[in-house]
Amino acid sequence: MRGDPQISASILNADFGQLGDEVRRADRGGVDSIHLDVMDGHFVDNLTMGPVIVEAVRSATSLPFHAHLMIDNPLAYAERFADAGSDLIVFHVEVEDDPGEVIAAIERAGRRPGIALNPDTPAEAVHPWLEAVDLLLVMTVHPGWGGQAFMVEVMPKLRALRDEVDRRGLPLQIGVDGGVNLETIGGAHDAGGEVLVVGSALYRTDGDLAPTVAGLRAAARARDLAGLDAERT
Ligand code: DX5
Ligand code: ZN
Repeated sequence: MRGDPQISASILNADFGQLGDEVRRADRGGVDSIHLDVMDGHFVDNLTMGPVIVEAVRSATSLPFHAHLMIDNPLAYAERFADAGSDLIVFHVEVEDDPGEVIAAIERAGRRPGIALNPDTPAEAVHPWLEAVDLLLVMTVHPGWGGQAFMVEVMPKLRALRDEVDRRGLPLQIGVDGGVNLETIGGAHDAGGEVLVVGSALYRTDGDLAPTVAGLRAAARARDLAGLDAERT
């Protein structure tokens, strides 16, 4: 059974000239965690941030840091992102490194492991690892950039993964990443997403983010209420 919607702020679309302040802005806005998109120019065609950036903004908030590693060799970098202050480290099941070894490296570094899958990757690819991770991140865009359109065609796979996690009675959380905004967050939550990563739909707002975060959370919950009403009638 999916939990209450959590909003995770992806800082990829924040103002990098004031990154610490942008993290604080999200914190004051009431988000539940900070999502850090790490790209190596190989796994995806973009280069973003390394451990030095994570460390630089770590003191801006006590919120959990979720490092989303879109890199070819997470095994070589997991410990460095842990030392930089990441609380949860997510890597992609599509990489060459053995997922079991990467999960063990993250746990040896005293952090929580997560695994992500791209839109074209079948659900079965992560089935062997569901017992071993704290977060399953379902990509609803092809990774590499913020501001892309939400891929609604991923929803059946998200529902299937939700059913699989519930069937096994696992405590892990399911996250949804890419194109999540006021129009799409309800569907993403309804299909089974609990940790809803929001980038451009958050940081395109100037000033106080609290109304935007509250609006996103309400839109996610709206389907729950509609579902309850439907049950009642
Ligand atoms: C894309 C990243 C996402 C992205 C989210 O590769 O993994 O976290 O930054 O940003 P929006 O919400 O704008 O799609
Ligand atoms: Zn991400």
